[in-house]
Amino acid sequence: MSGTAALKNAIKLKLRRDNQLDYEPSEIIASAGAKQAEANVINALFDEGDEVIIPTPAWVSFAAMVSLSGAVPKFVPCPEATGFLLEPDTLRRAITPRTKGIILNSPSNPTGAVYGAEQLSAIAKVLVDADLWVMSDDVYEHIVYEGLAPHIFHLEPRLKSKGIIFNSLSKPTR
Ligand SMILES: Cc1ncc(COP(=O)(O)O)c(C=O)c1O
Repeated sequence: MSGTAALKNAIKLKLRRDNQLDYEPSEIIASAGAKQAEANVINALFDEGDEVIIPTPAWVSFAAMVSLSGAVPKFVPCPEATGFLLEPDTLRRAITPRTKGIILNSPSNPTGAVYGAEQLSAIAKVLVDADLWVMSDDVYEHIVYEGLAPHIFHLEPRLKSKGIIFNSLSKPTR
C-alpha cells in the first residue's frame, strides 16, 4: 500500500507550499518512516559494485543501508573548514564511472549544516552532468532559524526525473 488519497494529496500540497515543488499523488508514497522508504529505494536502485556518494559527517544509517543493498558507500569528507558542506569540486572529483547516486541531507544530521541556494545550485550542476540518482533527505527541513532552506529540485528541476525526496512525520516542525 502507498497511502490514502487524502494523505497523498496533503503531501502534494505540502511540497508545493513549503518547497515550491509540483508532484502528482501518483509520484508520492507513504511508508513506515523515512528510514523504511530510504532502505526500499536504495535496494531498488543500486546493485553490487555501484557507488553511492555520502557526504560526511552523515547519519550512520545511510552507509548501512547502502552496504546492505550490495553497493559501496563512497564517503566524501566535508570538513569543518567548509562548514561541513560538500564543495562542488570535491563532488566532481569523487564521481567515478561506477557512481550511481548521492544522498544529500540538508539540514544535516549530525552537523546541522544547511546549504544556501548558490552552493546547492553549483552542486546541482555537477549532478546533472553526472546523471546520478539524487536522494534528498529533507527530514530536518524545519530545523532552521528562518524560513525553509532552498530545495535542490526547485533550483534545478532537471534533477527531478532521477530525484527522490524523503521526509518524515517523526521530526520536529515549526
Ligand atoms: C537524516 C535522517 N533521515 C531519516 C531518519 C529516520 O526518519 P524516520 O524516523 O521517519 O524513519 C533519521 C533519524 O531518525 C535521520 O537522522
